[in-house]
Amino acid sequence: MVRVLKPTEEVLREAASLLRKGGLVAFPTETVYGLGGDALNPEAVAKIFEAKERPYFDPLIVHIAKFEDIERLCSRVDDRARLLMSRFWPGPLTLVLPKGDIVPDIVTAGLRTVAIRMPSHPVALALLREFGGPIAAPSANRFGFLSPTQAEHVKDQLGDRIDLIIDGGPCPIGVESTILDLSEEPTLLRPGGLPLEEIERVIGKVKILTLSDRPRSPGQLKRHYSPRTPLRIIRGESFVIPIGVKAGLLAFKGSPRREGFYVVEVLSPSGDLREAACNLFRSLHRLDSAGLDVIYAEAVPEVGLGRAIMDRLRKAEGLE
Ligand code: TXA
Ligand code: MG
Repeated sequence: MVRVLKPTEEVLREAASLLRKGGLVAFPTETVYGLGGDALNPEAVAKIFEAKERPYFDPLIVHIAKFEDIERLCSRVDDRARLLMSRFWPGPLTLVLPKGDIVPDIVTAGLRTVAIRMPSHPVALALLREFGGPIAAPSANRFGFLSPTQAEHVKDQLGDRIDLIIDGGPCPIGVESTILDLSEEPTLLRPGGLPLEEIERVIGKVKILTLSDRPRSPGQLKRHYSPRTPLRIIRGESFVIPIGVKAGLLAFKGSPRREGFYVVEVLSPSGDLREAACNLFRSLHRLDSAGLDVIYAEAVPEVGLGRAIMDRLRKAEGLE
């Protein structure tokens, strides 16, 4: 079984050395836990796909700790990208930019673009610095399943297939990074930890990729981020639990209607969307292991981080 260790200097040194040998290390970021491998080593990257059972057509995000790295990983970085980087990095924003030649094709699934982000979590940054190069890291879950926001979640899903898990405690943001494609007209590929409103305040209107558009990001796949238990979003007021059904409730804010539910998880007692995003995956992991027939989820307002929450709930529901 994999070792789960606190991020001491010694552990970070060992993790970096595992990465240099082509091994896989799960580590905390401010969004979710990542499953890291040497981004410039195609064999290490192949191992990431295998461990996650992720299809090779789904490209990975490359993580960096130094702004200079962007120059060799990308062939063109325009002013908009530089503005966003200076404003939001390190932080939960991934930029899709034209790829540089040193990035192996397996990382980008053959695309001419590469997704890059500089995480703000101190453990992620310390690991990147210790390793000294870019780290490719998808979320450390099996493909299509719930993203991990604590070390335990990683151990449950991948414990038998990776070398080390660095336990940095729960992830402070709790939903994945926002992905913005800047290779053409600025387009939101995935709402995430950085609210769209903040990006638009810096570069103006951003196009929102809808499901009818060509899927540019497999994060756009219909069913994704899913618990094993079926999930339904509660729409409208007239909701009743079917008789004989063991149902759980994912409530947005305090004092939800609890009668009839077997388990209730409240995302934010005060109705704060940041807190709700932070608790989303942990609550879904809990509901998913409660032996329920179905999870009902309350809709949240689609502003700020609410956009990322509803995106993940819709994908978990898998209906649209
Ligand atoms: O917060 C995060 O972004 C986390 C942490 C670990 O950094 N990572 C993460 O990675 O969520 P992953 O692999 O679970 O999701 C990355 C998404 C995928 O939907 C992938 O299709 C998309 O990024 N992506 C990667 N490269 C791309 C590219 N060149 N063009 C479009 N989409 C890309
Ligand atoms: Mg993922």
